[in-house]
Amino acid sequence: MVETIRWTDDGVVMVDQTRLPREEVFVTCRTYREVADAIRRMVIRGAPAIGVAAAMGVALGVLRADGEDLDAQMEEICGELAGTRPTAVNLFWAIRRMKDVYGSMRGHPIEEVRRRLVEEARQVYREDIAINEAIGRNGADLVPDGKTVLTHCNAGALATAGYGTALGVIRAAVAAGKSIDVFADETRPFLQGARLTAWELQRDGIPTTLITDNMAGHFLKSGRIGCVVVGADRIAANGDVANKVGTYSVAVLAKENGIPFYVAAPVSTLDLSLASGDEIPIEQRDTAEVTTVFGTPVAPEGIPVENPAFDVTPHRYVTAIITERGVARPPFGESLARISGSGTTGGRF
Ligand code: MRU
Repeated sequence: MVETIRWTDDGVVMVDQTRLPREEVFVTCRTYREVADAIRRMVIRGAPAIGVAAAMGVALGVLRADGEDLDAQMEEICGELAGTRPTAVNLFWAIRRMKDVYGSMRGHPIEEVRRRLVEEARQVYREDIAINEAIGRNGADLVPDGKTVLTHCNAGALATAGYGTALGVIRAAVAAGKSIDVFADETRPFLQGARLTAWELQRDGIPTTLITDNMAGHFLKSGRIGCVVVGADRIAANGDVANKVGTYSVAVLAKENGIPFYVAAPVSTLDLSLASGDEIPIEQRDTAEVTTVFGTPVAPEGIPVENPAFDVTPHRYVTAIITERGVARPPFGESLARISGSGTTGGRF
């Protein structure tokens, strides 16, 4: 399986996801600003992977800080990383976690603070892989044997420290001996499905068919699809789910055709401080992502364009939310509160 991100003595190394699948190139971020830039440009993307990158970015920032007024520098580092992308709450959760560790080291020599922050960032990375494996174990039973699973965007190894959330469920179902294949929506405009999901599943030898986003309804009606599994960027207290734009349409079509719609996500993606998905900030990205394909214009110059990167699927379309702590079912207000326990709200910082 591809290594999405790792901590090294030289800095934070990540596979450049803007260049996949044509080239497998690794970039090294040597400063926290380079990590922030990589998140912004989607060299690394996917909610859990963004969280891991942010944790490593904070550690890198403090490691390279000159030690003068470290509190102010820590604020600057965290502020810059937090300003990269607004929707995936894992980013803010990870920064909060690093800030808490920093706060707990008050009065310690700077070398100890640095060592502790690096250790915490590496721990966030290790935990994320274990969490995804647990999500996979908890979700594998839900995948019907002998059917096709439809997924949207990339919620795989590339979107996490490894293994994946939605693709983790698929990997675990395959490992349990189920005979399944996958339909991957191409996921315009950034093509995470075509470029990333198709690539990583093909490398794993999991039978995968690529479809364009507007074919999803046709196949959901065909009787071939056994369930839909997607990831999430933020889940509100009532179970509304923000995920890659286009997820909502898939969810409505799944319900219309009586197909279960599952969301696979770690508890760190829950933001129980938000009552509903209406409060989730939706990132608006550069319109050039819509008007061009790999630099080639596909629309007339000057045409007005919208480019929301995410949409919100109302909870009534969600059959269940698969987490590392178990499967939450409606009413989500109760099941998510129970699963998250006290103190987990996705992370204000
Ligand atoms: O814009 P992206 O590529 O970061 O969006 C990613 C998604 O929407 C994923 O489905 C989500 O982050 C879950 S990843 C396990």
